Amino acid sequence: MGRVAVVTGGSRGIGAAISKALKAEGYSVAATYAGNDEKAKAFTDETGIKTYKWDVADYDSSKAGLAQVEADLGPIEVVVANAGITRDAPFHKMTPEQWHQVIDTNLTGVFNTVHPIWPGMRERGFGRIIVISSINGQKGQFAQVNYAATKAGDLGIVKSLAQEGAGKGITANAICPGYIATEMVMAVPEKVRDAIIGQIPTGRLGEPEEIARCVTFLASEDSQFINGSTISANGGQFFV
Ligand code: CAA
Repeated sequence: MGRVAVVTGGSRGIGAAISKALKAEGYSVAATYAGNDEKAKAFTDETGIKTYKWDVADYDSSKAGLAQVEADLGPIEVVVANAGITRDAPFHKMTPEQWHQVIDTNLTGVFNTVHPIWPGMRERGFGRIIVISSINGQKGQFAQVNYAATKAGDLGIVKSLAQEGAGKGITANAICPGYIATEMVMAVPEKVRDAIIGQIPTGRLGEPEEIARCVTFLASEDSQFINGSTISANGGQFFV
């Protein structure tokens, strides 16, 4: 059996492509999901990848879920913190609820996913933390004060974890996808989406598999010297 990898939000969108790519590389993959039992079951039926249901915004549920994965599959060596939501609204219309929902899931969710398995990675002397951030954490985005704050926060998390984990064989890196052809981007009003595509020099949305390939590279033994980095995969839309 290969190394054990957990992908949060791993049964849909970019997460599903990541789960499949890791499985194809020989990892034992656990894909988590928050709510949609039917889609999760269809995903397992299609791919053979085991799914687990918990809310990444809840620390105790995350800890218990991760312990269950370890009981089923073995020690977790690769974590892909991918689960994320949007609650877009111009700032003057954004409610405290929209702010907190996004912070709790996208930012605290990363803490809740990594913190319970961190001591085991330190003990075993190997770990790969990969956080799926966003172009909008790098450049900001109209109607995404909440989301952009979490995605910028992801970069602070990996830069700090990189320093703490380096001596223990653990790396932490972020990927900043640009606009990828997923349900999340398809939910953007068509006119706005077309305008965004017009800003992408490659002239198209990205494919989830293009992000998944970044993940399999960062998860591998070959990437040991890459730590605290951010890989931008955005078709040339934004340069840091
Ligand atoms: N830049 C500048 N102005 C914008 C804009 C933008 N990107 N998007 C909308 N506006 C403007 C509109 O043209 C409109 O202007 P007018 O009032 O002059 O006509 C105004 O903002 C919209 O105001 P409304 O009060 O009508 O806005 P609303 O409350 O209906 O909200 C919206 C609409 C939520 C902003 C909607 O336009 C939207 O969803 N925009 C897309 C936001 C976005 O890009 N989200 C990214 C989602 S994908 C993702 O997050 C994945 C990832 O990591 C990349």
